[in-house]
Amino acid sequence: MKFVVGNWKMNGSREILREMIRQIDGLRPENRVVLCVPFTLLGEKSTNIAFGAQDVSSHERGAYTGEVSATMLSEAGAKYVIVGHSERRMYHDETNDIVREKAMRALESGITPIICVGETMDEKRAGKTIDVITSMVRESLPTNVRDDIIIAYEPRWAIGAGITPTADEIAGAHRVIADTLSYMGLDGTPILYGASVNAANVGDIVAIRNVDGVLVGGASLKPEEFIPIIQSVK
Ligand code: 13P
Repeated sequence: MKFVVGNWKMNGSREILREMIRQIDGLRPENRVVLCVPFTLLGEKSTNIAFGAQDVSSHERGAYTGEVSATMLSEAGAKYVIVGHSERRMYHDETNDIVREKAMRALESGITPIICVGETMDEKRAGKTIDVITSMVRESLPTNVRDDIIIAYEPRWAIGAGITPTADEIAGAHRVIADTLSYMGLDGTPILYGASVNAANVGDIVAIRNVDGVLVGGASLKPEEFIPIIQSVK
């Protein structure tokens, strides 16, 4: 079963979320639908949607003003959490070490981390895509895990840009990630594609080998855009 994960980033409201739930709960999705919402919107109930957060503290508890722990997320109903999104790596200087710590905290609380990796345009131009994503996967994943984790390949240059890599580029990146995971003993870990996914391109994207679903930003905010994506992913 493929994944359709929405990342609302710092958008939405309780009213918009309730309307999204109402419409998606009226469907019969053939995939796993997850919505990663701002912390304050966790706590809603849905029959068809599992909820997730977009970040988690690398600390268990304590004097970390403004941070939210994995146990708090779990208590608020989160089953998933995005860690190491490129916007966190870029604006909050999150390193692979920090991302790995966050993923560990999530796993300890029974939350599935969705660990993001992806190259910048400069790295792509310099021919470093394979090296960058390989080291990101190796260094951002907790060691000795056999639990549920998900990887999301998000080429940074395509996020919010309205452009997507070619099918060959996506297939190449996902193969490298799948091979790296296999080397780490993590065969079968789902690998999602994210960046400028929409209803028009999602069918072609999920047909690519080693693509186990999508992580959708802008197009997950409105039911009229998100629902056609859910319905196109089989
Ligand atoms: P867009 O779908 O808006 O390009 O965002 C992708 C993303 O960052 C999802 O995490």
